[in-house]
Amino acid sequence: MALADVNKQINNCRKCRLRQGAKQAVPGEGPANAKVMLVGQNPGAEEDKTGKPFIGRAGKFLNKVLAKNGIRREEVFVTNIVKHLSPENRKPLPDEIAACAPYLEEQIKTVKPKIVVLMGKVAWQAPRVEGVTYVETYHPSAAMRFTKMRKRFEEDFNDLQKRL
Ligand code: URA
Repeated sequence: MALADVNKQINNCRKCRLRQGAKQAVPGEGPANAKVMLVGQNPGAEEDKTGKPFIGRAGKFLNKVLAKNGIRREEVFVTNIVKHLSPENRKPLPDEIAACAPYLEEQIKTVKPKIVVLMGKVAWQAPRVEGVTYVETYHPSAAMRFTKMRKRFEEDFNDLQKRL
């Protein structure tokens, strides 16, 4: 399936309750042939307003860590396991994750990245596609706040750069 078709499906999705409280879906963005895909939890308020993933505080931190490791944000595909904002930014519920995960699976199958980085516990539940390497790290919001997690997060991105 072409990425544009996956996006269309995501934008039209009404499979769970999250659509009602969101302004729009945030399908994700990046090159259709990206070697790396970064997966977060779900869009926050800033992302809901603009339709773009990781542009708020966590996104700015993520950009810094990428740059520090010689990875350009424009060369990676950035998305989330759940494509809509949640009420009060709560964690997505299991049925919401189950409804949305097939879109991520389709994105992985379409982009065929070498490495998928799952950021945070919710993202760790992402569907696994054969032939793709998965890295589990912390969510940038947690890495931003806690020193230990930040160290691990930065190490994981340093390793990533070496693997490319
Ligand atoms: N947090 C996420 O998990 N994803 C975003 O897109 C923004 C913040």
